[in-house]
Amino acid sequence: MLTEETFLSLLGEDWRRELSELEDAYDDYAADCECGLRHVETCIEDFISEMNRSDGYNYIDTYRERTKEFDSVVEKLIRRNLPLTIESIKSHIRDIAGIRIIARYRDDVDKIVQALQRPNSFVIEEIKDYVSSPKPNGYRSVHMIVKKQIWFSQTMKEVPVEIQIRSMAMDLWASHEHYLYYKGSDVGAPRYQSRLSVTASLLDSVDSLFIAARDDVPTNDKELIETLNRLLNVVAPDYHITRRHKMKPNKTTKTPVAETTETI
Ligand code: GTP
Ligand code: MG
Repeated sequence: MLTEETFLSLLGEDWRRELSELEDAYDDYAADCECGLRHVETCIEDFISEMNRSDGYNYIDTYRERTKEFDSVVEKLIRRNLPLTIESIKSHIRDIAGIRIIARYRDDVDKIVQALQRPNSFVIEEIKDYVSSPKPNGYRSVHMIVKKQIWFSQTMKEVPVEIQIRSMAMDLWASHEHYLYYKGSDVGAPRYQSRLSVTASLLDSVDSLFIAARDDVPTNDKELIETLNRLLNVVAPDYHITRRHKMKPNKTTKTPVAETTETI
């Protein structure tokens, strides 16, 4: 693997200087983005805490935030075949500053997204809804890019901030997937895809069960069992789940399979 040191030693003197100048320009710009991040975060926290008070409910489990490192920005520009210039960073890399909002329940994700679209101090540039249309690997989340104007002593600047909104179950999946595979050389390998998408669908059912528990309503057992059987068919085709919530070997299977008393 190419280390940063080797990479830099392979670059000529001119390139090294240009990269170092780009890093200085980036540090300035990232500081502006970070400022935008703080403004947007305060604005979100304020109106969500007002929603919490008026509904007597807690919409958010956690907020997380990060600013992208220079190395990741360079990697993203190279990956996308974009020029290594500050202008290119400003126009193409819109997620230098990012906030992640983790809602406890799946249906709160939508409520938060709706709330963020009401008039406030930032402007929405883009919304990607990977909850209604999950990525092929099973990734679920809503992404928004917003623009925030900041008034400094001499000038006004406008910076983008990425907001990701997801439920705790969606976050659990994304966190594992990120740790295991995201952007790794094995992304897209068929052997991982079915496992990952089964886990994502299972967690989606878990999200439904949590909502049913919160609202104290009966779960739609038939639908849940159908989902579980569909998933089980991928990972263990010899088993199916009955309405009494027992896993049993399929009668039609020719291969002898072990009995199980495992319940769901
Ligand atoms: P990146 O280069 O990954 O930033 O892509 P993007 O900004 O063009 O696209 P997108 O809006 O789809 O993704 C933005 C961010 O969402 C990423 O930086 C991740 O934090 C998250 N994300 C997107 N897709 C996945 C995924 O498949 N798995 C995980 N774990 N996170 C994802
Ligand atoms: Mg990104």
